[in-house]
Amino acid sequence: MWGTILFLVVFSSAGHCNGHSRPDNKDQHEEVPAVNNGAWFTGVPQMQDLTEVSWEYMQDLQCWLWPEKCEGDQHTHSSWDWPNAEWKPLQLLSDWYSRVIEDRDLTYGRITNNLTGLQWDLGRRVHGQHLAVGLILSSLEKFLREDGSKKPLTLSFHGWTGTGKNLAAKIIAENLYKDGQKSLCIRVFIPQLHFPHLSHMEAYKAQLAKQITEVTLRCLQPLFVFDEADKIPVALLDSLLPFLRPAETHKSQSIFIFLSAMGANGINEVALNFWRAGRHREEITADDTDRPLKAAIKRKEGDMFLPSRLLQEGLIDAVVPFLPLERAHVKLCARDCFVARGLPYTETALQKVIQELLFVPKEEQLFSAKGCKLVAQRIYFMEL
Ligand SMILES: *[C@@H]1O[C@H](CO)[C@@H](O)[C@H](O)[C@H]1NC(C)=O
Repeated sequence: MWGTILFLVVFSSAGHCNGHSRPDNKDQHEEVPAVNNGAWFTGVPQMQDLTEVSWEYMQDLQCWLWPEKCEGDQHTHSSWDWPNAEWKPLQLLSDWYSRVIEDRDLTYGRITNNLTGLQWDLGRRVHGQHLAVGLILSSLEKFLREDGSKKPLTLSFHGWTGTGKNLAAKIIAENLYKDGQKSLCIRVFIPQLHFPHLSHMEAYKAQLAKQITEVTLRCLQPLFVFDEADKIPVALLDSLLPFLRPAETHKSQSIFIFLSAMGANGINEVALNFWRAGRHREEITADDTDRPLKAAIKRKEGDMFLPSRLLQEGLIDAVVPFLPLERAHVKLCARDCFVARGLPYTETALQKVIQELLFVPKEEQLFSAKGCKLVAQRIYFMEL
């Protein structure tokens, strides 16, 4: 019974506002089959762990799916603690999660690779990111065209919070897989959730390798997203390396996406300098951002951080910069949000949404310090 409830928690997406929702996904949560054999959960203690842990897990899953729903929760993560600090409940739960989905529909996991849709969605929904959009499209196009490539595609997204990194990953998921983020081909790793305790590193290493192997065996084109990649313990690189390196034995074409704010200051400086020189933001090219960004990533205490290590090892195919957002972009986010909620909006309303956001640097007040992050929340409170 509680299984069904949780399932509904995950899929009831009403109220999010990324300016988009697939009509064909609308009713998917309505016919949830019961988890068909009670024998699947063995042992009462695990069941208890599971119920305690599940709420937070679902919250986090929800945060990834609809980031604007979990503003303010962000900082509670570091203090999370599992009931008995073990991986097991989480593993059980994610198994269960896959099982329920598998039971429903064997076509989950179907690959669509709709590049037209990808281009369209990125262009329409990710605001102010001509560089990122261009790089994502060209990298994916090239990768998907090279059939039977032995090298996985590794993208590293960099930029301030709220600039669209998560949204871009979500749009990729939606257009490359029939069931978007619910696809069996996709695994999202969130360090505070999946690797919270340094003392459990050996277990995490084994689990990470196991999970990646499982998805890779099940799916011809797995997608792995690592959120807050700079917080992923570097020790886990050992588990990742075999999958990231080219190998004859790879039977699937994996895509890895690492998200982090590392190097964001390097990007922001480039954007600010362009503005100060009176040049258009759209004139910024990857050549302009590449060096400062890579320098900033590498400078960050050598090999302490996963993205730095990946870059040093030459494993990143594209370093993708997300520029800081200006007023006009944040307004577009606000507009999307009104539209997604079916609310009418006026210029005054949009103005009001961005009015209280913090813009930096102090003098120019040019870039939104939190990107589009607080926009949905603001509109929600305006409605009240
Ligand atoms: C690809 O995406 C576009 C835009 O969302 C859509 O119109 C089109 O039908 C999709 N194509 C396929 C084959 O799904």
